[in-house]
Amino acid sequence: MTSTDDLLRWVKEALSAIAEANDLDELKVERIAHFGDKSPIALASRALGALPAGERAAAGKLIGDAKSSVAEAIAQRTTILEAERDARTLLEEVVDISLPSDRVRLGALHPLTILRNEINDFFIAQGYGVAEGPELESEWLNFDALNMPADHPARSMQDTFFIEPAQAHLVLRTHTSPVQIRTMLESEPPIYVICPGRTFRADELDATHTPVFHQVEGLVVDRGISMAHLKGTLDLFAQKMFGDEVTTRLRPSYFPFTEPSAEVDVFFNGRWIEWGGCGMVNPKVLIASGIDPSKYSGFAFGMGLERTLMVRHGITDMHDIVEGDIRFSRAFGVDI
Ligand code: DAH
Repeated sequence: MTSTDDLLRWVKEALSAIAEANDLDELKVERIAHFGDKSPIALASRALGALPAGERAAAGKLIGDAKSSVAEAIAQRTTILEAERDARTLLEEVVDISLPSDRVRLGALHPLTILRNEINDFFIAQGYGVAEGPELESEWLNFDALNMPADHPARSMQDTFFIEPAQAHLVLRTHTSPVQIRTMLESEPPIYVICPGRTFRADELDATHTPVFHQVEGLVVDRGISMAHLKGTLDLFAQKMFGDEVTTRLRPSYFPFTEPSAEVDVFFNGRWIEWGGCGMVNPKVLIASGIDPSKYSGFAFGMGLERTLMVRHGITDMHDIVEGDIRFSRAFGVDI
């Protein structure tokens, strides 16, 4: 028969072992030792049945009290140790959201490309097509067909990259105007196209020049096209580029492929800024391209994309556009 002293000793031992358990694993070991199937308390509990009926109730109450005080101690210690474990886990598994992420960087479009797309979209929305031509161009299309024969002074004004052998008569196109000729040779009026593309001149790279640059050409050939159509188109184009409030002005000028010819200025940020060239397509150019000037007339214009970007965004150094530093692109809100 279990004595009351034994029971009190077992309970005391159990309570101190439970209190000393440092984590849930240790507590489990102590629970099995002091409360498990083979613990003295469990054995005493099982021996109750063998007691004479008169002693059973009193002994049962003693053992029951002992068991519930141990069970309660285990429950309380469990709660404490679980809370400690949770707090530790939170600390150990803390996520530093300020660490750099491993997002895959796909790259992004260059601001010049974004500008070109913007221009394409604007003209496409008005029913224009987008025409392209080769960067390596025949001298005839780059110059002669545009009313710039070999002895024409305008021809030597463009610092041309000539391609060897000279007999091949190939150049890196100095402007996008040869695409006008290609378009007129390939199609019948009405013609409404823009021709964006890369162009080349033997200039040193400096704050305002680059030997590889971009232009966009516009060409319209239809019945009854006048300078008023040109002016209206340029106004809308300028507003798209620089803001709804801007206006354009045409200044008389000279280009061999247009007659009359003009420089287009745009009134932006309180001053007139030279933007590009334009005019009515010279009848000689229409004839060279197989179009009858007695039936059709047309206008054309040509702008530099670098210049447009520089004016619009206050860029003062061409190097920023050509060098490909992504900090420059980021300033345009490009997510790289
Ligand atoms: N091709 C000229 C240049 O590169 C720009 C130009 C001027 C284009 C007048 C045109 C135009 O279509 O009509 O300087």
